[in-house]
Amino acid sequence: MGIRALMADDAGSRFIIIGGAGFIGSHFVDHLLDDPETVAVTVYDNFSSGQDWHISHHADDQRLTIIRADVHEQDRLNDAVSGHDVVIQLAANPDIAAAVADPDIDFREGTVLVRNIVEAMRLSGCQRILYASGSGVYGDFGETEVIEDQGGMRPISTYGASKYACEHLISAYCHMFDLTARCFRFGNVVGPRQTHGVGYDFLRKLRIDPTQLAILGDGQQSKSYIHVSDTVAAVMHAHTHSTEGFEVFNVATGDYITVTEIADLVLECAGLDRQNVNYVYSGGDRGWKGDVPVVRLNTSRIRNLGWSNRYSSAEAFRQSLMALRDELNA
Ligand SMILES: NC(=O)c1ccc[n+]([C@@H]2O[C@H](COP(=O)([O-])OP(=O)(O)OC[C@H]3O[C@@H](n4cnc5c(N)ncnc54)[C@H](O)[C@@H]3O)[C@@H](O)[C@H]2O)c1
Repeated sequence: MGIRALMADDAGSRFIIIGGAGFIGSHFVDHLLDDPETVAVTVYDNFSSGQDWHISHHADDQRLTIIRADVHEQDRLNDAVSGHDVVIQLAANPDIAAAVADPDIDFREGTVLVRNIVEAMRLSGCQRILYASGSGVYGDFGETEVIEDQGGMRPISTYGASKYACEHLISAYCHMFDLTARCFRFGNVVGPRQTHGVGYDFLRKLRIDPTQLAILGDGQQSKSYIHVSDTVAAVMHAHTHSTEGFEVFNVATGDYITVTEIADLVLECAGLDRQNVNYVYSGGDRGWKGDVPVVRLNTSRIRNLGWSNRYSSAEAFRQSLMALRDELNA
């Protein structure tokens, strides 16, 4: 069924997921297609890091349309967004440290993408955007638990700067062109189908050499790791429960684990004995210059709307590692 042929009373349930073949995006596809109320889901993805197998189990679902295209193709994007009620925007450069060698990447594959998307929304009349921002917007606040309206935010990576710029651009479009938006500053998201991240890297390294593990920094970096199912639930909860025209939410578990603790979990999942694996730290308090070693997110705002996480950081990580191990063995 073509997206434009839908009935008016279906309004509200036609979603386009930009970056929908990626790690987080594919879980939105699962969640939305599990809901019989969902009328249509369109995945718009250039498959640069997205994978066919992430969404291929829905191939027989008539409600799913897959558009293999790039967000830089403005005409195709405009056509694709038209007829949808909600944009879920996830497309971005996934390699945060890539900007060290390619300083323009987060502007090109981050800020420009959101600019093209809000413009497509303005032209097509699609009003609601759910945007995957990130905790990188804050910069380095150490042990301070940051709130969404934190004063003195100064991103220290081009990734964080791009996310912050995108939030501001979306805010302006909400005011000027009647869009409504929820922006989500996720902690680190983990779960099945991950194609990047610290657990994924450790597991892959240990498969090559199970006797030693290179760890960036001093291993004391400490952050929240949220299961992708809790992340999707948070976004959908804010989508349906927040009444603001534009609102930003921190989304995290409220507990934290260190990189060395993650390494221990990876060993446990890989069935390796700690005595037989040498941890080789690169030193310094952070993995690379734009890394924020300690992240503390206050999540009262989304919890006050009624959301809560099912998994702690360690539980989320353990589940994610089990799934990754099975995927790497497949
Ligand atoms: N994974 C995390 O821990 C985390 C944390 C905070 C925020 N985020 C944000 O959530 C979003 C999704 O992250 P993810 O981990 O699923 O990453 P991902 O790389 O798995 O997904 C991104 C998807 O976007 C697609 N894409 C990228 N550039 C595109 C372009 N120009 N045109 C069309 N498609 C394009 C990719 O092919 C991929 O399918 C990103 O914006 C990321 O910054 C992720």
